[in-house]
Amino acid sequence: MSQNTKHTSQIAILGAGDVGTTIAYSLIMNPVAGDILIVDPKEEVRDAQVQDLSDATFHGNTTTRVRAGTHKEAGQSDIVVITAGAKQKKGESRTDLIGRNKAILESAINDMTPFRSDTVLLIVANPVDVLAYFAQQFSKLPKNQVIGSGTFLDSARLRGILATKAGVAASSIDAYVLGEHGESQFVAWSHASIAGVPLSSALETGTRLDQNAIAEETKGKATAIMESKGATNYGIGGVAASLCKSILFDERIVRPVSFFQEELGVCLSLPAVIGRKGVVRSVEIPLDGEEKGKLKKSAEALKEVINS
Ligand code: LAC
Repeated sequence: MSQNTKHTSQIAILGAGDVGTTIAYSLIMNPVAGDILIVDPKEEVRDAQVQDLSDATFHGNTTTRVRAGTHKEAGQSDIVVITAGAKQKKGESRTDLIGRNKAILESAINDMTPFRSDTVLLIVANPVDVLAYFAQQFSKLPKNQVIGSGTFLDSARLRGILATKAGVAASSIDAYVLGEHGESQFVAWSHASIAGVPLSSALETGTRLDQNAIAEETKGKATAIMESKGATNYGIGGVAASLCKSILFDERIVRPVSFFQEELGVCLSLPAVIGRKGVVRSVEIPLDGEEKGKLKKSAEALKEVINS
């Protein structure tokens, strides 16, 4: 990457709602992008969000500029972050959104086509794995250039919970939630470690972990938050901005994200090396027998939604 990438790069965000604007705010504060383009058919809200976000750029350590853009312009960006779509109402699951959000995705991708050949699509809207699958089909971009935020957020939640229980910083814990960003997700406990030491031996004497309870707490965290504030935005905002940074600066950081799995025929999350081309390569994680079964089940659940 050239030195001035930071000043000339462009990230488009589709959707000026809470999630899209939290991602934008996080990109401004980091700072990651040169230009941020906010795209939303609701022009009045979009323009007000642009004004408000711009106010956050007029001080301190950021060279980021925020402006309103069209879908056509978005298709010429380094990264397009897709948050546009309906959000879950109380009692709805992520997969309940597929009908509405697939239509919105298809129309947005049609309006953005043709893409710049190196554009990376980062899908954030739900159901993220299914939408990532369709985004690859609609956009015809190379499969590695279409990523879903997937279980990166669930993995962050898991690390947070483990950090509290183990009394170790979340960043020193290696633990992955894999599969669907939704009901069929699972924790790869066979690979959870602290500084490379298996979790079971790295804990202080007397510390016990109830793996099932922790996995359930992790999976239920979004619902628990939504019950009180109606939606989640900060967690996903931080995670999506961090992925943008990894892509733009070709960081080659390993993250669990949703991408196309040749042998399973769906997009779901497994660890991948993230760089300027999106998924640079996958990292083979040798799951144990039970985990392999859960991965297969997760793929089957996603196939069912794709074919429904
Ligand atoms: C969540 C939404 C982004 O898990 O699916 O917070």
